[in-house]
Amino acid sequence: MTVDAPVIAHLDPPRRTLLGPGPSPVDDRVLRAMSAPLVGHLDPVFIRTMDEIQEMLRYVFETNNRLTIPVSGTGSAGMEATIANLIEPEEEVVVCIHGYFGERMSDMVSRLGGRPVRVECDWGAPIDLDKTREAWRKSNARILFGVHAETSTGVLQDLRPLREIADERDGLLLVDAVTSLGAHSVGADRNGVDACYSGTQKALSCPPGLSPVTFSERAVEKIRARRTPCSSWYLDVGLLLNYWGSDRVYHHTAPISMNYALHEALRVILEEGLEARADRHQRNHRALVAGVEAMGLAMQVAPESRLWTLNTVRAPENIDEAKVRKRLLEEFNIEVGGGLGVFKGKLWRIGLMGAGSTENNVLLLLAALEKALADEGFKVKDSGVSAAAALYSNEKS
Ligand SMILES: Cc1ncc(COP(=O)(O)O)c(C=O)c1O
Repeated sequence: MTVDAPVIAHLDPPRRTLLGPGPSPVDDRVLRAMSAPLVGHLDPVFIRTMDEIQEMLRYVFETNNRLTIPVSGTGSAGMEATIANLIEPEEEVVVCIHGYFGERMSDMVSRLGGRPVRVECDWGAPIDLDKTREAWRKSNARILFGVHAETSTGVLQDLRPLREIADERDGLLLVDAVTSLGAHSVGADRNGVDACYSGTQKALSCPPGLSPVTFSERAVEKIRARRTPCSSWYLDVGLLLNYWGSDRVYHHTAPISMNYALHEALRVILEEGLEARADRHQRNHRALVAGVEAMGLAMQVAPESRLWTLNTVRAPENIDEAKVRKRLLEEFNIEVGGGLGVFKGKLWRIGLMGAGSTENNVLLLLAALEKALADEGFKVKDSGVSAAAALYSNEKS
């Protein structure tokens, strides 16, 4: 052997309170499911597991789409799977960009041989519908893309007006629901979404590693009518369906333990119920907002467009937001995110997703933030904890 074996200690990661843009905290039930014995990826037990995952994913996407599967890979794999399957070379796609992930989709469309028609909108606001309509009318695109929950800005996008624009020319609506699925209703069938992808590590409260996707019958028809093969072999949903459908033809070795985890995470969601889960996310979001505003901080996004899963809080003038995040991590074991793109250095991104969206976490974070801010020299106006606690008490009584 020419390379000496390195001496490496066993892994001992801390138990952080994950209140950033993801991954979110994971229920111990889900972690335990990952340590269940492996079976083969064509074992009847695993095949039943796959069927149940598909059934539960249809429930969370709110769809009857047959083509509903978890793609192996993180949210970006689902993103790439949707667009790689839907576009042919040189095909135009209207891409609404109101944050970092719209930008990523534009890049993917180009790399996969399509032509993005970029609708550039303000970061921190919903998609500009007039600009989108104009771009749609001027282009030959058959696909309109929008991000439902922009993790970089904290904005929730209403999907109905995008559907209406796409309907002007029988277009397909492609939606990123990475930070909404499992908290905000995606309503894939109700909202006429033709293709949608998410990630396991946000409001589904599962480790990162799978990307649930769903395609409507119209989207499947477009894929069936392709003139050229999908540019990705790994993400070709035609091939994937031979494995996830009744034929069970080997395509790739499914990540068994990740699928166990998703199975359990989805069971947790079923037990809570989608509506109750949405209510919980909304309540904790409102308590957090009450707390940060009482402290004298401002939210970045207008109230009517705020995500419940990802809260963008502006860092006050003269306060180094990175130092505050460092204090939260080092003194309290709490992770929150910093700004991306135009918001770099300007705000905190506080995630309250899935198992992380709890009264305990809101109160803990507000208390820790209050101390970290005071230590950085910010004059905290009123107690954030008291404001949030008052909201919880009022709603219980
Ligand atoms: C809105 C959105 N889309 C796509 C992605 C990409 O997902 P991943 O990092 O899991 O590949 C993310 C990740 O944070 C996201 O927030």
